[in-house]
Amino acid sequence: MKQVARDARVKERILGLVPTMGALHEGHLSLVREAQKQCSPVVVSIFVNPTQFGPNEDFKKYPRTFDADAATLEDLRIDYIFAPPPEEIYPPGFRTAVTVEGLGDILEGRVRPGHFRGVTTVVLKLFEIAQPHFAFFGRKDAQQARIIRQMATDLNLDAEIVVCPIVREADGLALSSRNAYLKGADRQSATALYRSLDAVRREVAKGERDAARLIAAMRCALDAEPGVALDYAEIVDADTFEPVVSLRKTCYALVAARAGATRLIDNALIEQQGDSFRVTV
Ligand code: PAJ
Repeated sequence: MKQVARDARVKERILGLVPTMGALHEGHLSLVREAQKQCSPVVVSIFVNPTQFGPNEDFKKYPRTFDADAATLEDLRIDYIFAPPPEEIYPPGFRTAVTVEGLGDILEGRVRPGHFRGVTTVVLKLFEIAQPHFAFFGRKDAQQARIIRQMATDLNLDAEIVVCPIVREADGLALSSRNAYLKGADRQSATALYRSLDAVRREVAKGERDAARLIAAMRCALDAEPGVALDYAEIVDADTFEPVVSLRKTCYALVAARAGATRLIDNALIEQQGDSFRVTV
């Protein structure tokens, strides 16, 4: 992979990297298509990264569908799939980690200690190996994208971070590899996350600016669905990810909840436009 990356640089080609953990769905493929618009060659990495899973999380049962993923990427005429075995990324004696202070300890980082440290460490390694000019991430994982951008800035990385919109099912559920776990009634219950964000969109359109009242609207939509258990519903500043009192510049409405045993996250982007705010779910 390093040799491919070096050759691409020598030939002044623009290398795009799409890091994934596989079990590819349309969300991933939207990143691939965006990468293909901006870059050639495009590399898709498939690596279920053990260090970003907590001890009681789903590392072992995380869906692994390599053959189907490879066929999908072949259909899209992707240039390279980089799918290293775990022992190549983490050989015996591996000792180094990258931590983005603060941003990595709140929200998802609080519920999943060590998660973002695992993410930033593997993403930095993938960047060093594939040497991308551009790397593509989904807004679905807004805090992850923010943290990776911070790492790229702080460590003077060459890669420019591109963040792409959330791809959803027809009923609003954000696509996720973990949706494969949703069985029976849980699949329907899971749409409550989207409904809570849609409630934010409606309230903001009516002129609501107060974060507590927007959070109440989110909670109301989630409480109406007995099949989901809320982890958090927050309105945060898009830069600091700290809670805001009322809407300003750019914010996220963030929601994390469990449908049955499956933990899901989702968010809406709230952007100031003149005197009003626009909500993108
Ligand atoms: P994974 O969950 O496989 O996601 C890979 C990329 O796809 C991430 O950037 C994620 O935000 C994006 N993505 C997932 N669902 C999406 C959706 N519905 N719409 C748009 N984009 C979506 O995120 C990871 O893997 C890992 O943490 C990784 C960055 C690969 C590091 O191990």
